[in-house]
Amino acid sequence: MWDFFETVRHRHSVRKYQQRGIELEKLHAILEMACAAPSAGDLQAYHIVVVARKQDRQALCEASDNQDFVAEAPISLVFCADPERSAQKYGERGAALYAVQDATIAAAYSQLAIVAAGMASTWVGAFDEDKVRALLELRPSLIPVAVVSLGYPAELPEPTPRMQLEEMVSYR
Ligand SMILES: Cc1cc2nc3c(=O)[nH]c(=O)nc-3n(C[C@H](O)[C@H](O)[C@H](O)COP(=O)(O)O)c2cc1C
Repeated sequence: MWDFFETVRHRHSVRKYQQRGIELEKLHAILEMACAAPSAGDLQAYHIVVVARKQDRQALCEASDNQDFVAEAPISLVFCADPERSAQKYGERGAALYAVQDATIAAAYSQLAIVAAGMASTWVGAFDEDKVRALLELRPSLIPVAVVSLGYPAELPEPTPRMQLEEMVSYR
């Protein structure tokens, strides 16, 4: 088992996957970890769609600028913000900000759980919202904000650089 810091360091965007299926228990554990993320008022103002059928993966790929790995990954998770749910308690700020934050934190947690489960993923932001909404038959109020494609890795990408902490952080 990797400790948390190793897990974070081992997360790289992987865009080539083995054609090996994902065990249901692992998928369940990953979804549990996504839903363990914090959310404004504990409202969990998001919805997650598991896309596994081949024709849906292909359609999701086409809706995502034809990024091939989206079709090749055995599963993609589509994280959708639910602004209506957050607005019930937090009004406009909940609808405009918290729901998107809730959904993206859940997606980030899922990426770490995927690594801990021995797999890899890529966050996909380049997709046509309306096409994804239509494909997944989402209710109109849901906003798809992130696609996380996952599977057993078939490549080990070079680590990507990060800016120095001094450039990113200030202290007062
Ligand atoms: C908001 C967001 C949108 C992204 N969209 C895409 C995408 O559409 N296609 C893709 O291949 N990678 C996408 N990525 C992955 C980034 O390219 C990747 O995280 C970044 O280059 C750092 O590399 P690493 O994930 O290996 O550390 C996205 C990441 C984020 C957070």
